[in-house]
Amino acid sequence: MSDKKRVLSCIQPTGNLHLGNYFGAVKNWVDLQEQYECFYGIVDYHAMTMPYNTKKLRTQTWDLIVDLVSTGLKPENIFIQSLVPEHAELGWIFNCFAAVGRVSNMTQYKDKSQQNKKDGFISVGLFDYPVLQAADILIYKADFVPVGDDQDQHLELTREIADRFNHSVGKEYFILPQTLHTKTPRIKSPADPTRKMSKSAGEKHVIGVFEEEARIRKQIKSAVTDTGDTPEGEMSAGVGNLFELLKAANANDYEQLMSSYHAGDLKYSELKESTAEALVSLTSTFIENKKNILDNKKELKYQIKQSSAEIRKVAQQTLSEVKELVGLMNVKF
Ligand code: TRP
Repeated sequence: MSDKKRVLSCIQPTGNLHLGNYFGAVKNWVDLQEQYECFYGIVDYHAMTMPYNTKKLRTQTWDLIVDLVSTGLKPENIFIQSLVPEHAELGWIFNCFAAVGRVSNMTQYKDKSQQNKKDGFISVGLFDYPVLQAADILIYKADFVPVGDDQDQHLELTREIADRFNHSVGKEYFILPQTLHTKTPRIKSPADPTRKMSKSAGEKHVIGVFEEEARIRKQIKSAVTDTGDTPEGEMSAGVGNLFELLKAANANDYEQLMSSYHAGDLKYSELKESTAEALVSLTSTFIENKKNILDNKKELKYQIKQSSAEIRKVAQQTLSEVKELVGLMNVKF
């Protein structure tokens, strides 16, 4: 076993990656692979908690994996949650260590069930979502979990479950995982820089990680800069977003353009030109990577099944120990 600290994070297969996801989360995951032993899960069990298309889920799972590998995640660090069914079994066990009152308080559940109310159907799975998330994390005894602050509550619940479990079995079995808060850029929509880049807002609000050059140039060219309602002396949301993108893409003219801004002689057309250039250069690498991966898609699928099987061994070990501790029947392997 590696003596590196362990990192675990997961993502739902609900759509293709855009630059907001990439700069806000995935790039950080890619960088963490240098220093830590990393496990990254594609959580398809979680994707079932909201109304979804049963015909599309499997394709979306593979598509997301292609996106993640093309942007730098190592296949050996990726697993598919439903290929490690021990998550669901530990999730059940954790149901018996999680307090209904606490789970009912989760804001993500409140928001999402509000959204689903119009269909008149809210699944028990949606309610139980954070308990399965606790299983995702604790089954690997992860030290660190890199997530956005919208997940703080779920991490808190995870620690509570671990704590109650430890007390019940009279042993510090689970270590309490910590949230890894890395300051990552929050990319906004170029068409409306007051809202975050998100597909739910519509196509013009997102730039995909494989976006073709012409569309990037067009989107950046027409990006909102000044709307006239920015308070004196403050940078407008639109200009701020372009700088954020420029910096996130490691453009080497960032400093120079920023000093022009402060000197008051920045031309927005120049800022846009540089931003578009930096993004095109980044996405063209991703497009190239994706092409190579798609040429060998069978190979990638094989690799991911292998990595899931490898990672599953860790999960099986934990589950076996847990069953032993809680008094369940246990077939040792
Ligand atoms: N709830 C997380 C999200 O919405 C996804 C997730 C599921 C997750 N299981 C996890 C994140 C375990 C970190 C660790 O983004």
